[in-house]
Amino acid sequence: MLLTEDAPAPTRSADPAFRRDILAGLSCTPKATPPIWFYDQRGSELFEAITDLPEYYPTRTETGLLERHGADFAAAVGAGRAVVEFGAGSARKTPHLLRAIAPAAYVPIDISGDFLHASSAALGDAFPGLPVLPLVGDFNGPLTLPTAIAAMPRLGFFPGSTIGNMEPGEAVDLLRAMRRLLGDDAQLLIGMDRIKDRDRLIAAYDDAAGVTAAFNLNLIARINRELNGDMPMDGLAHRAVWNDDKARIEMHLEAVHPLTFHVSGERFSMVQGETIHTESSHKYGPRDSRLLLRAGGWNPVQEWSDSDGLFSLMLAEAA
Ligand code: AVI
Repeated sequence: MLLTEDAPAPTRSADPAFRRDILAGLSCTPKATPPIWFYDQRGSELFEAITDLPEYYPTRTETGLLERHGADFAAAVGAGRAVVEFGAGSARKTPHLLRAIAPAAYVPIDISGDFLHASSAALGDAFPGLPVLPLVGDFNGPLTLPTAIAAMPRLGFFPGSTIGNMEPGEAVDLLRAMRRLLGDDAQLLIGMDRIKDRDRLIAAYDDAAGVTAAFNLNLIARINRELNGDMPMDGLAHRAVWNDDKARIEMHLEAVHPLTFHVSGERFSMVQGETIHTESSHKYGPRDSRLLLRAGGWNPVQEWSDSDGLFSLMLAEAA
């Protein structure tokens, strides 16, 4: 990382955490940036488009499980819990669960207040009488639940295999934080994507229509816009790689020729073929997912998978 005098000056309004993470990520070897920064307005729209792609099976499969197993959830969870959803976003899958288990309250947590209030209002309309208590915040940081649910047993809901975007140590830390937040008689319903055929996995992260490539490259557009960068969009190509040792799909942006660019007044270079590692999406064998839950302070009690074994919903109880 070099400071130069001729580089454009840093943009003042940029999120300091975004600048810090991107500059640190471009300065390390190999280059790597945290996946949370994909989700600006355009990135969130592109992710919604990904969930509808024919190759991207997780959303469709998990939604099918939620639709099919309502009676099982009702039996295993019972009525009267406060459902606390981590990273609720558009909360498209939530109505299936809420319909099945007759909860006493619903607390969606999301970092984006606009998104959260819009989806909470829609859910409030769909479930009249259900207290909907949105909580704006980062579920990776400290959170305080609304006092209105203080006396209610809780069900944590963490769908989408979002846990897979964390390194194993971070995933365990998050599960432990959820365990502390939700209390001793809590349950957790969590989606986990399964290890499967390599070609199927790669297709899900490198679709024919190029939507995932656009999602990955949108990070560069965001850096250029918000951090006064001049990263060449046409000098970086989307790559999806299966890392078998770590059981994860990795998304990278690969330099198609030698590159020099600036971000926030700092100069960076990449040799041809060098990559920026932008996301990992871990996949789990059945024992892996149970081990991860136990390490995070949760005892697995039941699980539901589709007939092709693509995706699982796991129910666990506070250990
Ligand atoms: C949000 N997360 C679970 C998605 C995944 O599958 O890892 C993000 C994603 N990245 C590329 N396609 C989808």
